[in-house]
Amino acid sequence: MNSRFLTILSTLILIALLATACGPSAPAATPTPVPSPTPAAPKGDAAAGQKAYLASCTACHGPEAKGVQGLGKDLTTSEYVKSKSDSELVEFFKIGRPSSDPLNTTGVDMPPKGGNPALNDTDLLNIVAFLRSIQQ
Ligand code: HEC
Repeated sequence: MNSRFLTILSTLILIALLATACGPSAPAATPTPVPSPTPAAPKGDAAAGQKAYLASCTACHGPEAKGVQGLGKDLTTSEYVKSKSDSELVEFFKIGRPSSDPLNTTGVDMPPKGGNPALNDTDLLNIVAFLRSIQQ
């Protein structure tokens, strides 16, 4: 056996050892689960909301939502509108605020959905978008 052969042989053994150590028997890295992004809350359509507003809310809140004396409040400067989330406002529209409610300041009822039961969640969300667009 010449030394050149020995060198090649030991190199091959070394390669074989390394291949076994780092070969396919090593556990495959578990893929890190990618957190699914929270779906953004749906936003209403302000233009469609204005139509729904004009049809159902103007009588008490006025065509520009500036309020009507003795009826609905000004919604363009309403702290209530500003402080609530879109979905909270949708829930508020559905319930309204009767004069018996301690939060009622006018003694006048805000009827559920402004008295228009035909308004669905999409309509109400659109109205929220409209009110957001006219905030002062
Ligand atoms: C029959 C009259 C009437 C109609 C129609 C009406 N509202 Fe009202 N709304 C009121 C009254 C009165 C109040 C104030 C209640 C109070 O004293 O807190 C009010 C209050 C509100 C408030 C809370 C304002 C605040 O600052 O507290 C919002 C928001 C609102 N109305 C939205 C609407 C929307 C949107 C519609 C149409 C879907 C609508 N209203 C239809 C009478 C009405």
